Amino acid sequence: MYQVKVPATSANLGPGFDCMGLAVKLYNYVQAQENDQLEIILKGSYTKNISTNEDNLVWQTACLLWQRIGFRPKPLKLVLENNVPPARGLGSSSTAVVAGLMIANAVAGYPLQRLDLLSIATEIEGHPDNVCPAIYGGITLTVMAEDKIIPRVLTKNPGFKAVVAIPEILVETEKARKILPSSVPLKDVTFNASRVGLLVDAFLREEYELLAIATQDKVHQNQRASLIPGMPQALQAALQAGAYGAALSGSGPTLLAFAPIGREEQIAQKMQKALAAHSLDSTTLTLEIDPNGAVLTEI
Ligand code: HSE
Repeated sequence: MYQVKVPATSANLGPGFDCMGLAVKLYNYVQAQENDQLEIILKGSYTKNISTNEDNLVWQTACLLWQRIGFRPKPLKLVLENNVPPARGLGSSSTAVVAGLMIANAVAGYPLQRLDLLSIATEIEGHPDNVCPAIYGGITLTVMAEDKIIPRVLTKNPGFKAVVAIPEILVETEKARKILPSSVPLKDVTFNASRVGLLVDAFLREEYELLAIATQDKVHQNQRASLIPGMPQALQAALQAGAYGAALSGSGPTLLAFAPIGREEQIAQKMQKALAAHSLDSTTLTLEIDPNGAVLTEI
């Protein structure tokens, strides 16, 4: 029997649209063992709308990997424990994709390397900013070159925690991408490119005070504010409460703050209060950065 543990992730980190992300210590688990037919059992806090049939994302992804390598599918019993809230910008679908790939690879005798899994996962997800940290852990930058993908893990143990405010609304990534303009003014490209550079430098040099500027964005966050009442105010509140930086998590609605150790509770409360002032209830969590990414164990 195999068990895979996959971390939740936060993508973009402000200006790093579709290329930067981080993994946090909040996990979905999948257990898999051979069975005489496909059987899918759901556990954990988030089981609603998860298919237990052939179209389940973990199973679909496993089948896709087997098809790629010419391996005959084996029916499995899958037990999915979902602790990452779906449609909240915390990479829940990436956890399913990564779990499916890792289990399929294990069942087939480990023919593929992590980089191969990243490449297939990116193809399925369309962008690597969630799947890369879900596979590698830490804070990541992923570059899509013509014929290859380049993952870089910038840091695994930064000196801050991730405080997330998870609003009680759902935002479908597809919808949150459709509202983005198809082109971006040149000055906004410069604004974001310079901040992605600063963000990478700040993580590498551990100069977290730079994050307030380095997490600013002009490409997607303002455009998405209409989907999340109180978003700019809550990001501002996080900074005023002492966060190093703050950003929309993926396509939202979750908001992410980079919290100095000891300031987490205050930052969480201020974000929650700012959202509540716009009639949006939210749950807050303080999470450490996950340094390992997805881990598969044979039980
Ligand atoms: N980079 C993606 C976006 C993350 O912002 O749309 C969501 O999957």
